Formats: sequence, structure tokens, C-alpha cells
Amino acid sequence: RALATYDPGFVNTASCKSAITYIDGEKGILEYRGYPIEQLAENSTYLEVAYLLLNGELPTQEQLDPWVYEVTNHTFVHESLKTFMQGFRHDAHPMSMLNSSVAALSSFYPEANQIKDPEVAELQIIRLIAKMPTLGAFAYRHVQGKPYVYPSNDLSYTANFMSMLWKMSEPEYKPDERLVRALEILFILHADHEQNASANAVRAIGSTQVDPFTAVAGGIGALYGPLHGGANEAVLKMLRRIGDVKNVPGFIEGVKNGDERLMGFGHRVYKNYDPRATIIKKAVDDVFEVTGVNPLLKIAQELEKIALEDEYFVKRKLYPNVDFYSGLIYEALQFPPEMFTVLFAIPRTSGWLAQWKELVNDPEQKIARPKQIYTGYRTRDFVPMNKR
Ligand code: CMC
Repeated sequence: RALATYDPGFVNTASCKSAITYIDGEKGILEYRGYPIEQLAENSTYLEVAYLLLNGELPTQEQLDPWVYEVTNHTFVHESLKTFMQGFRHDAHPMSMLNSSVAALSSFYPEANQIKDPEVAELQIIRLIAKMPTLGAFAYRHVQGKPYVYPSNDLSYTANFMSMLWKMSEPEYKPDERLVRALEILFILHADHEQNASANAVRAIGSTQVDPFTAVAGGIGALYGPLHGGANEAVLKMLRRIGDVKNVPGFIEGVKNGDERLMGFGHRVYKNYDPRATIIKKAVDDVFEVTGVNPLLKIAQELEKIALEDEYFVKRKLYPNVDFYSGLIYEALQFPPEMFTVLFAIPRTSGWLAQWKELVNDPEQKIARPKQIYTGYRTRDFVPMNKR
């Protein structure tokens, strides 16, 4: 029998064919459905990009209007789901709450298991994209010990999210348009990234033909980890720990000695630069114009400067990734670090669902079931308890 190919972490194994997102890691190119990420970040809205990822083409006005209308009108969650969330401990991690609440959604919509019915599938896609900001905002308010704020359907997707986070703390709260746009750009940049760990989790779970809520909950679980979406939270904690620009060289030495990783640096695919990091660096300036400069920015800039000239990082092709600067923006927008990965999960939902839809409609896809190289014992006789 031919031995299976040993490829831990699927570094060189394509698990699917996909027409959604194109990445050239050497050249630093990221395209959704062929459109460069730079052009989308400059010209489109998040819901337009979500439509593009899901349907393959940018929407016409006649297609966009009903899409936005549908998403906007599905933002509310069942009151029992609210009660479910209220059962979490006051110090529960928002990603843990989001993960469980999205999984719980499948119990509210049992018809979601009819994955081959395009109309049913489309409705679940709309529901999930619409409800993610609501669940994310509820998780945030829960940690703050504040009452949950219901969606305002007269606001845009991003502005509504901000309103659910902050409205009742500041009754007059009206999101600043520049901050709404900055968050919108971050949402666009995070919408999809081909076969990353969480997309792979969504596809693996989806390949069993389970409903999309359960599959996406699995993706949220994968995203929670510090080597994936949890990196933005880890970056902020790292910057706080470094505390001062003068401590940067000592910290870098520690990284080179293998004490810890420089969080927000390195990427499995990008070996030149991460185009999302370049766009975020620009957005940082726009946000700081409104909020004032985050003092941690200086530490981040010094880390980047030293690392980009240091042989250790150059040799291993380690550059800032999307998470290196995004945390600084999130913090300037007053999010606690625990919320950062939620801010990644909300927009990534459109990418996960686009991949789920592609998988469900791909006749070549099979249940995900990789091989292993077995390294354990072969047949041996049972040993009774008194002889072990
Ligand atoms: N700091 C220090 N050394 C590093 C780092 C880092 N951030 N990243 C990789 N290396 C070293 C690593 O120790 C190894 O060195 P050596 O060859 O001497 O053993 C070499 O670079 C290759 O690393 P790897 O772990 O084999 O690379 P990978 O492609 O498996 O890992 C990664 C990619 C993103 C998990 C890794 O670079 C990392 O842990 N970065 C820090 C966490 C982070 O920022 N994650 C966010 C990724 S982007 C957002 C997302 O997609 O979620």
C-alpha cells in the first residue's frame, strides 16, 4: 500500500478548488474574486464585498439594495438567545460567548440543515451575517455588565454595530463617520483569506453536510487561537508588556533567543509583506486624527524598524501581518483587547460562508478525512490489571 503523504499543517496540500480569494504570498497580492484588496478597501462597503465574495460579482444597485435591506432586517436575535447569553459568567471571554452563541443559532433555525436548498441556504447566510454584529456587541456589553442594546436598522452595518456597543453609555452617541469608515475598511480587509485555519475548519465541518451555523461556530473556535485571529489581542498585550521604546531591543533579543514570538509578525503565506498591513498602517493615521495618538504606536514602530533590519527576521522573511497594527486601531476605538478577535470574526463570516457555499455546491468535494502516519504499537495482547 502506498504511504500517505506526510504534510503536517497542510503546508503543501490543496484541499479544495476555489474561485473566491487569490493570494500571491511572494508578491504580496490579495484579491477577492479578482479585485485587488487595495481597490476594494478604497471604494467599497463591507456589505458590497460580502456580496462579491458570496456571489462572485460586484452587485449592481438593483442587487445591492435588497441585499442590504435583507441583512439589515435580520439583525435582531431571538429573546431566548439573549437570555442564553446572559447566562455567561461576567468575565467570560467574548470569543467564547460568540462561539457558543453562533452554535446555538442552529437550534433556533432547524431548517438550516437543508443545505442543498438554495433558498434556505441563502436565508441562513443572511441571518448569520446580520446577527454577528448583534452577538458580538451583546458579548461586549455582557463583559461590561451593561444592558444589551438592540440593533438600529436605520444605520449602516458598521455604524449599527458601533451603536449597539456604545449607545446607552453615551445616550447622545453618534458614530463619527471617519471611525465608521475605518472600521468598514478593517472589515473589508478581514472578509476572507482563502484556506486559513478557520476557513479550513469551516470546510472540514461543512463537509459533513451539517448546517452552516455549526460549521461557522467551528471556524470561530479556530479563529480564537493566538496563532490565528487571537494574534491581534496578543500584540496589544505584548506592546503593553514592553511598555517603553527603550525596552524594545531587549525584547527583540528575547525573541531571537526563542523566549517568545514577536506577535503580529510572520505569515504562512506572505513572505514579502502583507498587503493588509500596508492598508491598515494608513488607516491608523486617520483614526488617530480623531481619537488622538495611541502611545503604544511608538513601541510598535520601533519593533517594526528593528525587526525589518535584523538578520533573524530578514532571513526568515518575517514581516508585519494584518494583526500588527489593527489592535492599535481597535484600542483607539476603545475596544478592550478581548474584543479584538470578535472584530475579526464578524467580517470573516462572509468569507467563511462564501467558502461554505462553494463547498456545498462543489460536486468534487468529499467529507474531509485526512490520512495519518501511524507511529504506535501494532497488535498486542491485553494485559490484565494486576500485570501492568
Ligand atoms: N516571531 C519570531 N519568530 C518567528 C515568528 C515570530 N512571529 N514567526 C515565525 N518565526 C520563526 C520560527 O520560529 C521559525 O524559525 P526556525 O526556522 O528557526 O525554527 C521560522 O520563523 C518559521 O516559522 P513557522 O512557525 O514554521 O512558520 P509558519 O508559517 O508555520 O507560521 C505563523 C506562521 C503566523 C503561525 C507564525 O509566523 C507566528 O506564530 N506568528 C506570530 C503570530 C501571528 O502574528 N499570527 C497572525 C497571523 S496573520 C492573521 C491570521 O491569519 O490569523
